[in-house]
Amino acid sequence: MANRIQLIQGSSIDPEIISRVHAMTDGHQRILVCLDSNHTHEHVLAELEAYAPLVTPGSYCVVFDTIIEDMPADMFPNRPWGPGDNPKTAVHQYLKTHPEFEIDKQIDHKLLISVAPDGYLRRVA
Ligand SMILES: C[S@@+](CC[C@H](N)C(=O)[O-])C[C@H]1O[C@@H](n2cnc3c(N)ncnc32)[C@H](O)[C@@H]1O
Repeated sequence: MANRIQLIQGSSIDPEIISRVHAMTDGHQRILVCLDSNHTHEHVLAELEAYAPLVTPGSYCVVFDTIIEDMPADMFPNRPWGPGDNPKTAVHQYLKTHPEFEIDKQIDHKLLISVAPDGYLRRVA
């Protein structure tokens, strides 16, 4: 079980990929999830619903590029995301119905510069 690395290729919100990832976690005591694929609100929210439940209490779901919310609107002209539609908006929506997670602001403050402000979600229950 220990130190085994597996690559699973496909869309992170494909139900078959989701179930293969879930199967991979069987028997593990501590799980940290990082989300860093398609940065639209809808996609990240679907990833949170799919993978955040895998996070073990005391560990984290790290959602990258929440910074998009704080960047100029014309910064991503060739991308489907931008202010109002990005990982941070997904995080804030997800947290409304998932009190088992809290944003760990201490990590933001320690990092000083980060692409993931409000993106370190600690599982508290
Ligand atoms: C911001 S990059 C992150 C790369 C990766 N975290 C790394 O450090 O190498 C986003 C990556 O997500 C991939 N991606 C885009 N849509 C995806 C999806 N639906 N499922 C899985 N990966 C996706 C892209 O191909 C790209 O490689």
